[in-house]
Amino acid sequence: MCGIVGIVGRGPVAPLIVDALKRLEYRGYDSAGVATIEAGVLGRRRAEGKLVNLEKRLNAEPLDGKIGIGHTRWATHGVPNETNAHPHFSNGVAVVHNGIIENFASLRDELIADGYVFSSQTDTEVVAHLIARELKRGADPVAAAHGTLKQLEGAFALAIMFQGDEDLIVGARNGPPLAVGHGEGEMFLGSDAIALAPFTNSVTYLEDGDWATIRRDKAEIFDMDGARVERKRQQSLSTSYMVDKGNRRHFMEKEIHEQPEVISHTLAHYLDFTSDSSKPLDLPFDFAKLDRIAISACGTAYLSGLIGKYWFERLARLPVDIDIASEFRYREMPISKDSAAFFISQSGETADTLASLRYCRSAGVPIGAIVNVRESTIARESDVVLPTLAGPEIGVASTKAFTCQLSVLASLAVRAGVARGTISREQEKALVHQLSEAPRFATQVLKLEEQIEKLARDLSRYHHVLYLGRDTNFPLAMEGALKLKEISYIHAEGYAAGELKHGPIALIDENMPVIVIAPHDRIFEKTVSNMQEVAARGGKIILITDKKGAALASVKTMETIVLPDVPEIIAPLIYALPIQMLAYFTAVFMGTDVDQPRNLAKSVTVE
Ligand code: F6R
Repeated sequence: MCGIVGIVGRGPVAPLIVDALKRLEYRGYDSAGVATIEAGVLGRRRAEGKLVNLEKRLNAEPLDGKIGIGHTRWATHGVPNETNAHPHFSNGVAVVHNGIIENFASLRDELIADGYVFSSQTDTEVVAHLIARELKRGADPVAAAHGTLKQLEGAFALAIMFQGDEDLIVGARNGPPLAVGHGEGEMFLGSDAIALAPFTNSVTYLEDGDWATIRRDKAEIFDMDGARVERKRQQSLSTSYMVDKGNRRHFMEKEIHEQPEVISHTLAHYLDFTSDSSKPLDLPFDFAKLDRIAISACGTAYLSGLIGKYWFERLARLPVDIDIASEFRYREMPISKDSAAFFISQSGETADTLASLRYCRSAGVPIGAIVNVRESTIARESDVVLPTLAGPEIGVASTKAFTCQLSVLASLAVRAGVARGTISREQEKALVHQLSEAPRFATQVLKLEEQIEKLARDLSRYHHVLYLGRDTNFPLAMEGALKLKEISYIHAEGYAAGELKHGPIALIDENMPVIVIAPHDRIFEKTVSNMQEVAARGGKIILITDKKGAALASVKTMETIVLPDVPEIIAPLIYALPIQMLAYFTAVFMGTDVDQPRNLAKSVTVE
């Protein structure tokens, strides 16, 4: 999603803005731009594509102002080109914007009728023209910005600069995040604290409906009625984050390899390995008194929730209603008063997940957030934050956040089972001990890299792939397919193995590799029957199993990846690794942009 930076600085700000934009690159973008005011005149440089193109423009034609705004754009309205790149200008007003102005079409018609000429296809340009019109009608810059904000509908974050005032940026938030960074004799705006980390770790997060004036010596925050509001200033943790790839080629590769460590940190937060028990949690509800729970999330986070459903229902006999957040928020599902709702999100900013949370909030049920970014909106709007301790995840394709989400969900399901009396102390001990083994097994699986890299070379020759699994391996099959399509652009689908006969079997021929996730568990035999159905039709099977499964599979495979024998509870965490590695190496062979795949964004702050 788009990234915003604004600096009212002490020296030339353009290089600092580019530096901050680089830290927002992980959000995904397709063009970028910077504007500054120098000797009373607005100047801007914009470029399609990566930030290096913008840097080249700035090297050729530097901008020297001490105040500036910058932007990485992820196209919503209008193609990704230089003309549509932000900042957008109108008569001395410069605007950068993240989100969607929903009433832009009617505003645009009105402005055109008023004589304003549009040079881009963006919804953002209406904001610049509206402010310019307010100025023309006699408002001062702050009043012009405020007057414009009141006319906008939709979800947006904005940073606005005015020719003629080199000590003022106006920021506004209604949906996508925006933070003020407090410096000494300088002030900052940024989409998140990671962007501001090189400048300051003292930040104030704007809340929805807030807008702010930032000047070198002070930042003031207002509500939509124009009344001053106080928002907490806090120390961001982000300064300690070193956002680099280490010795790896891609962030995704680095993040895959961090999993043994971050799974272990996350599990240790919820489980006590000395007594093999689940730690008591300070929850706003009692698991024993719940009649069901609701879970909502998007993409990979949703798939972790789907695996969580199997655990909660099996271990705690607690029914789970789970839905993709973009459906959850609109389908008006009845929410039981005796339920709790969990929202799962790496970024904590996903618009649909946040809207689902607010739906449950209005139904009055207690809310838990399983999030990676603890300072995020979803975290702040929840009653309890259940953190994943994955550290910053920069690769757009989620890997370590997923297995950390699974770690939290498995721990919670055990805790719920203990509270509801559905698992005994002996079972709790055994399950916690088994979970403690996950990091060790994950380390072993990462050593299969060479075999998986070779397999990926073969896989990269195909155009379609089917993933199959049963039980928790069904959501994992969908995750395998999602990972493969998003970074290698190979079309892939994940199905419940038992559904094969109900349609997808028609696709099977010698050009269709079928990846089957099948540890030797109580339904292994059933999956073997499905593999036989595939083999009988000439499909190429790639089997991911354990030693027993490999010995008993009795089908010819194109490749068998043999993982260690692992306890059932940790199987999803361990089997996630080969599917991530397979997607990663296939994408490397295909030569795609692994960390920032086309069209995708890390933090999806619009619906
Ligand atoms: C896939 C992926 C996405 C995210 C989804 C939700 O690899 O990363 O499907 O899982 O956009 O994002 P968060 O977890 O930030 O809410």
